Amino acid sequence: MNRIALAVIGGTGVYRLADLQDVDTREVDTRFGKPSGPIRIGTLLGQRVAFLARHGEGHSVPPHLINYRANLAALQDIGATRVLALNTVGGIGDDFGPRVLACPDQLIDYTWGRISTICEEAGSEVLHVDFGDPYTTMLRHKVIAAARVTGVSLVGHGCYGATQGPRLETRAEIARLRRDGCDLVGMTGMPEAALARELGLDYACLAIVANWAAGCGGGEEITMAEVLANVEAASNGLPELVAELARG
Ligand code: HPA
Repeated sequence: MNRIALAVIGGTGVYRLADLQDVDTREVDTRFGKPSGPIRIGTLLGQRVAFLARHGEGHSVPPHLINYRANLAALQDIGATRVLALNTVGGIGDDFGPRVLACPDQLIDYTWGRISTICEEAGSEVLHVDFGDPYTTMLRHKVIAAARVTGVSLVGHGCYGATQGPRLETRAEIARLRRDGCDLVGMTGMPEAALARELGLDYACLAIVANWAAGCGGGEEITMAEVLANVEAASNGLPELVAELARG
């Protein structure tokens, strides 16, 4: 029962995994440096699950300064092989309004200047990993099945556009993302997904829509209060879904 069945990375508004019990806290140091915060390992409805807050538990690390490599390596170092990434996002497509949960199957990377490979250091072997399907297909199918079993409403597809942040996008930028085929926009989907692939981790994204992206929906101003309230409301069924995914 020591095996970690699933690691969860929490995004904006998700700094703890509700219902995680008997928590053992680990401060991990990796070959890439320190992760955003401690890893909390505990039991979630009978399953052994690890949790890491991507921005730190006090939300102190902005998207472009997150040590994505250390975060993933830390989870791997404690024995995780499967990662569920929770990403708070804006909705672009009509089916992706606030409080929708989605499991995207594609992404487009608009970020820049982030360390996006584990082979950055001189002398390390260069990897050209296949990334045609950026999320692990089998794990995505399990996320979709876990949502069905636990009665959580989930859109089982979508294209995630990863922007640089930390500012939100202009309406013109979102119009461009829409033309490109993006349904969702967030600031932390990359390079995390690519690094997970390089590290050989199974990785899927569970996107939590917090707001309509700029110019979408009613086109109203986006506030942090709205973002946090929608994430909280949309996260109700998450412990059951995560535990079911960990079980499978
Ligand atoms: N854009 C980018 N990232 C986000 C948004 C958004 O509208 N909402 C939450 N994260």
